[in-house]
Amino acid sequence: MDFSLNEEQLMIKEAAKNFANTECLPGVIERDEHMKFPKEQILKLADLGFMGMMVSPDYGGAGLDTISYVIAMEEISKVDASTSVCMSVNNSLVCWGLEAFGTEEQKQKYLTPLAQGKKDGELYIGAFLLSEPEAGSDATSQQTTAEDKGDYYLLNGTKNWITNGSSASVYLVMAQTDKSKGFRGINTLIVEKSLPGVVVGAKENKMGIRGSDTHSIQFADVKVPKENRIGKEGFGFNFAMQTLNGGRIGIAAQALGIAAGAYERSLQYAKQRKSFGKELIEHQAIQFKLADMATHIEAARLLVYKASSDKDDKKDYTLSAAMAKLYAAETAMWVTTEAVQIHGGYGYVKEYHVERMMRDAKITQIYEGTSEVQRIVIGRSLIK
Ligand code: CAA
Repeated sequence: MDFSLNEEQLMIKEAAKNFANTECLPGVIERDEHMKFPKEQILKLADLGFMGMMVSPDYGGAGLDTISYVIAMEEISKVDASTSVCMSVNNSLVCWGLEAFGTEEQKQKYLTPLAQGKKDGELYIGAFLLSEPEAGSDATSQQTTAEDKGDYYLLNGTKNWITNGSSASVYLVMAQTDKSKGFRGINTLIVEKSLPGVVVGAKENKMGIRGSDTHSIQFADVKVPKENRIGKEGFGFNFAMQTLNGGRIGIAAQALGIAAGAYERSLQYAKQRKSFGKELIEHQAIQFKLADMATHIEAARLLVYKASSDKDDKKDYTLSAAMAKLYAAETAMWVTTEAVQIHGGYGYVKEYHVERMMRDAKITQIYEGTSEVQRIVIGRSLIK
């Protein structure tokens, strides 16, 4: 068993770290405060090849492995989780699904520009539309309908909490075609945002990842061509679940990055700040906190790498992805809370970044399957 990164992975780590510190760090506090979408950062990530990292070069991607992807996600999330969630959704939930299950025509038309993050020099990214007002964790309860009208589907309904909601050009939408078949009657459709009847709702005013744009999306009699269905009739829910397995690795890497970023800031602060006549780090109470933080982060990293390597080795990664997501998300929440505690009063104000990281960490326990859903997935795998 070799835990070391290869030369290419080390280069990706360095590139992502430089990008995070030079392009994401300046303005990260202001973007959070004013809910400003990091468009400039995403366009530059696209130039680096980070918006379609695992996609084959045949379809405009960088052709890298999942380990390289999670390394990049960790480094960017250490600084700016709003930018990294946009990157994660495009890479894992949109590009991966299209490459794995799309037709050749769909790959040429949609995947190729999505993997490059640009079309005709303009931002071109995707979003994944599963959640609804009444279907969050209970994802099979889809109320959005895709009525079969012969050569097109008539799409009606509302999707909620959609990352990249207004900035995406392409939506992957899950909708019920045949209610009598339950989740086997769900289809996933590629829907261009520009189609008549697609309405982007108001932007959510969120606790964390405030730079990312999260919207509800309404569909009113949207005509979606039949050739835009992904996979066979009724494959839509399985598509969503299989895609989410990879998405969960991306979000686990995001949570890991948030935790690692907060830890690094805390370590630095503890070496500079003095109290009771000595540096903070000289106090055993603080050392113990840092020791526990570092240990949990390393354990989370190993789980993230394990899930990534299962995926790269074409093993079933349902279980390892759920474990990585659960553990990394819980670690992010706990570590960032400890980071604020170590910083004391300074931790509670914006300039020191850790309060933002604590708010950002919370969503990793919720999206792409809550921690409770991950436990369901893990529990069911154990029974099997
Ligand atoms: N991988 C592969 N297949 C899976 C799966 C997984 N992780 N989880 C479920 N399935 C399959 C099941 O095997 C079953 O198919 P078969 O019968 O053909 O085998 C089918 O899906 C239905 O599963 P269940 O019978 O277990 O359904 P359930 O209703 O009891 O529970 C659930 C399913 C696991 C709770 C599921 O609904 C779920 O994962 N919910 C969470 C949804 C979620 O993650 N939403 C995130 C939204 S996207 C987002 O957040 C993106 C963003 O913007 C950042």
